[in-house]
Amino acid sequence: MTDSPVRITVTGGAGAIGYSLLFRIASGEMLGSDVPVQLRVLEVPQALDKLKGVAMELADCAYPLLEGVVTTADPAEAFDGAQHALLVGSKPRGQGETRGDLLKANAAIFAGQGRALAAHASADVRVTVTGNPANTNALTVSAVGESIDPRHITALTRLDHDRAVAQLAARAGVTAGEVRRMIIWGNHSDTQVPDLSHALVSGRPAAELVDADWIRDTFQPTVASRGASIIAARGASSAASAANATLSHVRDWMRGTGDDWVSMAVVSDGSYDVPAGLVSSFPVRCSNGEWEIVQGLELDDATREAIRASADELVAERAAVQELGLL
Ligand code: NAD
Ligand code: LMR
Repeated sequence: MTDSPVRITVTGGAGAIGYSLLFRIASGEMLGSDVPVQLRVLEVPQALDKLKGVAMELADCAYPLLEGVVTTADPAEAFDGAQHALLVGSKPRGQGETRGDLLKANAAIFAGQGRALAAHASADVRVTVTGNPANTNALTVSAVGESIDPRHITALTRLDHDRAVAQLAARAGVTAGEVRRMIIWGNHSDTQVPDLSHALVSGRPAAELVDADWIRDTFQPTVASRGASIIAARGASSAASAANATLSHVRDWMRGTGDDWVSMAVVSDGSYDVPAGLVSSFPVRCSNGEWEIVQGLELDDATREAIRASADELVAERAAVQELGLL
């Protein structure tokens, strides 16, 4: 067992995602069964009583790896020495809204937290943005938190990735563990590009097992609109699956992807013609706590065009945050 606990800040700990995420981090599922953790949980003042109840439940689980829970409404205290920051706390969308509609409500939260992170977190803090619109919120954190390595500021498209894996597995009649090399390109929005053209099912190219009509008419729209389908069915946005994806994103970033890859929204270096500086989803390989975009993949014209359209949306979202005066 290592000595001092890893400091993990989670925002929005009294919310729906937080209620699933915190317990699984404390159990060791994220960083490993030999890594002690300290949770530093940020909430708005009016949710602090509820958060204290969550902290009581965390204590009652008697997790051997959990070395303390700090609950606070003060970002400086929450981010103090943070080695991981999981930025969840923000408003979820309701039925009929797009994630982009949340920009006005949520962008200011991420601008404030980006500044607090830069001022108080560990120099090598790794940031994962789950709160929507996730890609552009990550870009905001990066723009205001200049001292943080931009490569350490990421956003969640892992839920889309896992949804795509699940859809393909069901179609092929296998379990999800048989599917590898799935890709989500672009924004965590309806313009995202679920791409199975490089995926393998039990080692065989997925494209040999499913037909082009199913990919275009069922697979891609089902994955891209899954968040809205869940809101329509549940009356609330995905929570347990979003917590699972957040945890998997950090776990694979820190503990490695082995011979598979995963989708993460990361700062673009211009790969695949996504303008440099945007936070966009790519296939990445991770090892030793760093990610690399998988290079050299052949893409057909339709996929290239769809990636370009999603990048255009990210440019428009960035302009909207600039108009709010936050960048
Ligand atoms: P929720 O409303 O249940 O919980 C959000 C919590 O955040 C609340 O307790 C609220 O008090 C807190 N909060 C609000 N402002 C805060 C601030 N400034 N600092 C700290 N905490 C703050 O919502 P949820 O279901 O947990 O969803 C949270 C976010 O995650 C939403 O933006 C949602 O759209 C997003 N989400 C993203 C994905 C993804 O794949 N990227 C998936 C699901 C949900
Ligand atoms: C999701 O994909 O489930 C989340 O981003 C929530 C939403 O608003 O769709």
